[in-house]
This record gives sequence, C-alpha cells and structure tokens, in this order.
Amino acid sequence: MANDGTDFTSLKTAVTLAKLATMKPLATTEVNKALIESALQKTPTGGNSKPFLWSWTDNKLEIRHDEKLAEHYLNRNSHTSWIALGCLLQSVEIAAAKQNWLSQVAVHGNAEATIEFKKLNSENQSNENYIQLLNRSTYRGPFKPSSMPVIATDSSQDQDQVVHIKTLNSKDLSAAFKGLLIMADTYLWLQTKATKAFFKEMRFFAERKEARGIRSKDLGVGIMDQIMLYCFSHVPWVLQWIVKTPILNLSFKKASLQNIQNSHFVLITSPSLDPKSLILAGRESLKVWLELEQKGYNVQPYSTASITLVDATAGVLPNDTKPAFRNLFTEKGPQIYREQFHLFAGEMPVWLLRVGKK
Ligand SMILES: Cc1cc2nc3c(=O)[nH]c(=O)nc-3n(C[C@H](O)[C@H](O)[C@H](O)COP(=O)(O)O)c2cc1C
Repeated sequence: MANDGTDFTSLKTAVTLAKLATMKPLATTEVNKALIESALQKTPTGGNSKPFLWSWTDNKLEIRHDEKLAEHYLNRNSHTSWIALGCLLQSVEIAAAKQNWLSQVAVHGNAEATIEFKKLNSENQSNENYIQLLNRSTYRGPFKPSSMPVIATDSSQDQDQVVHIKTLNSKDLSAAFKGLLIMADTYLWLQTKATKAFFKEMRFFAERKEARGIRSKDLGVGIMDQIMLYCFSHVPWVLQWIVKTPILNLSFKKASLQNIQNSHFVLITSPSLDPKSLILAGRESLKVWLELEQKGYNVQPYSTASITLVDATAGVLPNDTKPAFRNLFTEKGPQIYREQFHLFAGEMPVWLLRVGKK
C-alpha cells in the first residue's frame, strides 16, 4: 500500500484520531498499519512539505524521500528533511509502542529508512504518548506570560551521536539573542528566493489542514494580516522594500517582538551535524515537543534562526545570501548562541523551539 501523504480521508478529525488511539491491536502477527500511518501523517515536516512517501511489505515499512517535494530554498543539503525524518522515526516508534511493537530502523539513502516491526512479549503498551502525538501542532501566535517549563534536559546518546537539550527562560533573553531572532525573521522577506519559497508553501484561506503547505490561518496572525500577505504574494518586491525601509518596517519589527515576548526557548544541540546527528536531534525534539504540550505549553520551531546556522557551518548557504545574513549565520550567530545558552566548546545549535502558553 502506498501513500503520497496528501489524502488521508479516513482520519480527518482529531476525534477520529482519538478513537483510533483506543483501538486494540488487530492481531499479534501483524502491526496495525492504520495506527502507524496516522503517526506518519501527523509528524511535522518543514513547510508542511510532507516529503516522505511510504510502502509496506508485511511488517516492513519503507520510507522514501521525494526530492521534488522536499525541494525548498530553506532545505539545503536536506538538513530540514533529516531533522524531519528524526521526528518521523520517533512518531513511528510511539505508534508502535502503543500496540506493543518495537520499531527497528535502518537509515539509508537521502533521508530514507526501512523500519521493521517486532512484537514485544511484555504487556507494556504506552498510550499516553500516542494520544499526545495525534494532538500535536505548531503554534505561531503570541504567548502570555508563563513560568519556564521544567523538562528533561539529559543528553541523549545513540551509538556515537549525542544531542543536548538546553532551555532559556523568557526573562533571560539577552539583547544580542533578541537581535539575532529579529534579524533572522527578516531573512524570509529580504532574501528574494526565500520570500518566493515562503509564498509557494502558503495556502491562503484554505480549509483542509492535512494538505501540503501551510494554511494562512495557521500563521498566528489576524485576517487583515492574512489579506495583506495575500496581496504581497503577488508583488513580493513591495514587501521587501517595506521591510528594508526604516519607519515603514515598524509593524514588522513589532510583530517579531510580539512573538518573542513571553517566549521561552528550547535549543537542541549536537557536536556533529552529520545526518545521524540531525536524525537524533529530530527524535529528541519531537520528544520535547510532546512533553511540553503535555505540560500545557505550545511550540513553534524557529528554523530561520537555527537551521541556517547548520547550513552555514556545513558551508551550504546559497550564493545569493546577503553579506549581513552570511555574517549573522556564520560568525555572529554561533557566538551569540554560545553566550546565551552557555554552550561548551564544539557544541553547535541545531534546532530552536519557541515555547509558551497562549
Ligand atoms: C525540520 C522542521 C522545520 C520547521 N520549521 C518551522 C519554522 O521555522 N517555523 C514554523 O512556524 N514551523 C516550522 N515547522 C513546523 C511545520 O511547519 C509544521 O509541522 C507543519 O506545518 C505541520 O503543522 P502542524 O505541526 O501544526 O501539524 C518545522 C517543522 C520541521 C519538521
């Protein structure tokens, strides 16, 4: 059975998904594929591009990475896809554990994997994480004041890979880190190709959440701002000009500041940026994401302020990167992160999550 990730009509609503969560495994000889596929469908992907396709042979699941679907100005060297694959493998593990199966993963190709399922003897089904997974979402609006969430920040090790989880209380944001976040926000508008990629992934005034791309109503801005963005999508250069021009750009700066206000941050770091490390970072990020939501917090990845640093370290920033951004992602950014999160020598930022209560 193949699935292109766009159509999942039998699982349209959270209610249906929640019903699935209470289903008993069908038989002990075959993994419940509907449960696994619900996890595949719900896993986050950069720009909601859903670049992973899958097929089954008995209890074996093949995950393929569609290069065309994954093609995005901000997915360089497939960095975003590797992190998303980590999220996906974690999601599958949770759905397998829910029915008392173990998922054994072999990663190969460009962000591709084979997953074999083995029935566990113990009766240790874990339902809570699965429900949490089905309810997970990205929140892009402003936050109210809240206390810093207490989460497990132990490092996680997988063979020779290791990732760390760092937290930052909203009260402790340095001026330099705020400056980095605000400037990284303008990246989408000041780099022509990034702006085009952003508008390509937007679905203005759309109803279906499951389809590829991001609905404008999920941007966390009001209807007037959505209409304004829709107009700018036809004349992106006007938007660039406004963002570049002092005074005219005040409302953009205000919106950036509003999003930072009351936000706590969680940073996933690694001493290495190879695919295995990015997968582990993705896995740990999803775990943290679910833990935070379980504690009543909302989460938004901040990739333009983090994965861009991964790209810079890997030397794959595109040729058209403006000097100010190149300097931010290559020189200033790593230094700011080191000071703000007290990183040890060689520890690199991978993925930044904005966290708070709405
Ligand atoms: C690697 C990766 C990078 C992402 N980067 C961002 C980001 O920079 N900003 C954002 O708002 N969401 C980001 N997301 C979240 C996706 O846009 C989101 O998961 C997707 O639109 C599906 O929506 P949902 O999470 O509400 O199900 C990212 C997700 C992944 C896996």
